Amino acid sequence: MSSRTFIFSPVCVSGLLICVCLSAVQGAWGVDQAESEPLNFTEHAKSVFRAHCVSCHNSNKTEGDLDLTSYSALMQGSSSGDVIEPGSADDSHLFQLVTHAESPKMPPSGQRIPAEDIEIIRNWIDGGAINASGSTPVRKRKRRSLEMTAAIGVRPETVAMPVDLPVESFAKTTRDPIAVGLASNPWAPVIAVAAANQVVLYHSAPDAKERLLGILPWEKGQPTTLRFSRDGSRLIAGGGRAAVSGSFVVWNVTTGKRELTLGDELDSILAVDLSADGKRVATGGPEKVVRLYSIDEPKAENRPTELREHTDWVTAVEFSPDGKYLVSGDRSGGLILRIASTGENLFRLPSHKASVTSVSWRADSKVFASASESGKISFWNVSSAASGKPVKSFDAHSGGCLSIAFTREGDLVSGGRDNLAALWNLKGKQLRKFSGSNEIVVSVAVNEEAGLVFAGNFAGQLKSWQLKDGKPRGDLETNP
Ligand code: HEC
Repeated sequence: MSSRTFIFSPVCVSGLLICVCLSAVQGAWGVDQAESEPLNFTEHAKSVFRAHCVSCHNSNKTEGDLDLTSYSALMQGSSSGDVIEPGSADDSHLFQLVTHAESPKMPPSGQRIPAEDIEIIRNWIDGGAINASGSTPVRKRKRRSLEMTAAIGVRPETVAMPVDLPVESFAKTTRDPIAVGLASNPWAPVIAVAAANQVVLYHSAPDAKERLLGILPWEKGQPTTLRFSRDGSRLIAGGGRAAVSGSFVVWNVTTGKRELTLGDELDSILAVDLSADGKRVATGGPEKVVRLYSIDEPKAENRPTELREHTDWVTAVEFSPDGKYLVSGDRSGGLILRIASTGENLFRLPSHKASVTSVSWRADSKVFASASESGKISFWNVSSAASGKPVKSFDAHSGGCLSIAFTREGDLVSGGRDNLAALWNLKGKQLRKFSGSNEIVVSVAVNEEAGLVFAGNFAGQLKSWQLKDGKPRGDLETNP
């Protein structure tokens, strides 16, 4: 339903339109100008925001990271991007919230603001959302994308290391929470752990002076899934509250600043990934939908493309490092190879007999792996995926394989219900065993800068071993 029909009948709207335009412009310009002069911020919209919004959205108190006191602040948008689409009120986030067409409704409590005021905002935005009388309409600004720099698989010129991030813990748990999400920075000695209301960043090297590098708060339920961007500059986390809400956050790894908060999903996100160019985010969860968000197009960002071929919870998603493909897996063993830009289904890969738990791409984007609760790991070659058959499939962890991650060399680290983590080559030969967890391994990550394999287990421990020889290198706290 469009927000227009939602509020007024068409007759009413046109009546209001004329009356608002005339009265607003007559004073300054006389009747002649009524047709041509658009409403502006300074004379028209500002007073509406003053009356209804700035008590919460000002430079001292910026709810939703949005300041509505000045034109320049308003056009900066909020933490989730632009709120005004000059020329189109119906596509403007702010307008959708003010008409209560979308959540969170603004103002948050109770009634919509008066209809005349809504029409002033509509006409101001539709007329180009200009600052003052005579200003030129703002050019439709493309949302700044996350500006990922690295060429595929090439070390970035500057490697992102956290600098002076807060280390105050937000987790209010007495036991050590399980590291459900674990991710390794591809170029820096940094790992990230998602556990109970926060994401913890650690220096991966056991001999580093300070191991705890930062703690990023997560307020909306629990973070469940984590990934670094391919160039290591960003960290994305997805999560939420089971059967209530799901969203994701992108942080700048160096500054710890939130660059994006998005997602208005109805259930917790279980899988998330950010494309190498920083333009797309894919999510999966119990809604059985893969959502593809274009985060550089303001219009699409609130309405992701929804891909509905999965018949069960979507438990795994990952973009290929070259950005061409997206793989998604589900709880019934379904696995789909897609075109990343559109989400279009290329091949269904029906090999797993039990839930897909994890997927991982090899650095060259030619091969990816999938893991399953059946205990099997399968390797897939993109060029032979049409056959629907893996190039190799083998039993890796009896009881279930829960997490996998490729190394730079093209071997695969895995962990599972047999309390083990292990390293495999493409032929399915076990190269190394990482033992001593004594509990189910729920998440694994490999940090090449430190030469270590990390694993989170069911007891809330975070273990590490040397990649080259399997020697244990100590534990880290999931709740420091
Ligand atoms: C009583 C305080 C209050 C008032 C009054 C209020 N807001 Fe908000 N606003 C909030 C809070 C809190 C949030 C963050 C909500 C969230 O993220 O769930 C928010 C979020 C927003 C957002 C979304 C920012 C984002 O993250 O995308 C927009 C747009 C917005 N408000 C516009 C308005 C407008 C326009 C008005 C006046 C008509 C208004 N608000 C009045 C408290 C307020």
